[in-house]
Amino acid sequence: MIDHLWLPYTQMKSQKSFVHVEEAYGTTIVLKDGSTLIDGIASWWTACHGYRHEKIEERVIAQIKKMPHMMLGGIVHDPALILSKKLTGLLDPPLEHVFFSESGSVSVEIAMKMAIQYFQNYKQPDKKKFISFYNGYHGDTFAAMSVCDPNEGMHARFNDSLIKQYVLNIPSSDSEFNDLENFIKNVTDHTAAIIIEPILQAAGGMKLHDADTLERIVRLAKKHNLIVIFDEIATGFGRTGKLFAYQHTNIVPDIITLSKALTGGTLPLAATVASKKIYESFLTEDYEDAFMHGPTYCGNPLACSAALASIELFEEQPRLEQAKEIESFCKASLSHLLNYSIVKEIRCMGAMAAIELSRPTDLIQLRAYFVGEGVWIRPLNSVIYIMPSLNIDKSSLEKLIKAIEKTIQKIN
Ligand SMILES: Cc1ncc(COP(=O)(O)O)c(C=O)c1O
Repeated sequence: MIDHLWLPYTQMKSQKSFVHVEEAYGTTIVLKDGSTLIDGIASWWTACHGYRHEKIEERVIAQIKKMPHMMLGGIVHDPALILSKKLTGLLDPPLEHVFFSESGSVSVEIAMKMAIQYFQNYKQPDKKKFISFYNGYHGDTFAAMSVCDPNEGMHARFNDSLIKQYVLNIPSSDSEFNDLENFIKNVTDHTAAIIIEPILQAAGGMKLHDADTLERIVRLAKKHNLIVIFDEIATGFGRTGKLFAYQHTNIVPDIITLSKALTGGTLPLAATVASKKIYESFLTEDYEDAFMHGPTYCGNPLACSAALASIELFEEQPRLEQAKEIESFCKASLSHLLNYSIVKEIRCMGAMAAIELSRPTDLIQLRAYFVGEGVWIRPLNSVIYIMPSLNIDKSSLEKLIKAIEKTIQKIN
């Protein structure tokens, strides 16, 4: 049966067995054979309210009966209008203008194009490169790959085909901040923007940096005429304990990208939200100055309806408190794992807990161990992590943590 299906990030020759899912509800995945798994990663961090929340389900069903899709070129519809207003209300000014697409990577491409064209609009066409950071991950399309960590194995073979960007270490000392400022001064005449996953660099290994570090980077970028893009595709919608990770700081980016939990894991949707300053630079008498991007399914009404229902759940339910409870629980119940020699570091923030191992392990074997323990956890290189739904119940969370400890015992 698998003969014709080509899976992402999968060596189809050597991987012979696959977990075959029949359905999912809450934080439970039901397999074909009737057995169940507790989901520790909420389908790549999307299903923030668990699977099939009835509020989202009802809205999507109501919308499908009215209008499953409508192109957004020259036509508008309520789901996109209402969602754009809602999103800008959740974000801080001056993030006021929402451009929809259907995947995180594409929303990053859009942010990059907006930054380049912003400077073209002000007759600075040379400003077109980007500064990004090691351990960063921004997607698998070409421009998005160009700002990912080039040492991260999965894109390495494409490095020669990518536009060369400036990938730097996140600074931590005063002297490193001085170096960063000098670097920015030297490249600002041909650089458009910096792009960073604020507070939590997720797919690159669940690395954390603090709010002060982020604020200092942003101040330097703004001082030297760079656009600031925050990629909150992983961190947005409560993952770090604030609705958006930048809200741990006192700064607001010029452009933010959102996806993943935007629809509560129901349908594909992404948003690139730009500040008034960026948007207004496109407003001229010339059609050619319009933003030339338009994914066929952008602003899909079903996906927008799912997103609106998901946002209402954030308003009605204590999701941010739940994320903080997950953080406290994980901190308390994981710290003793440092006694195992294979455990190098433990990092917890909001509804994310990561155990960094001192050496890489066989990821396929690890996944099999986890399935044997009745949980779905998919480590990243040498990092075992969980990013469950924010409303996961305590006993399911305990089961995830127990499964992690048992697996670490096996490989220690
Ligand atoms: C921070 C970040 N940016 C971009 C992406 C790419 O999103 P997508 O897989 O929807 O293209 C991801 C996906 O994991 C991500 O975590």
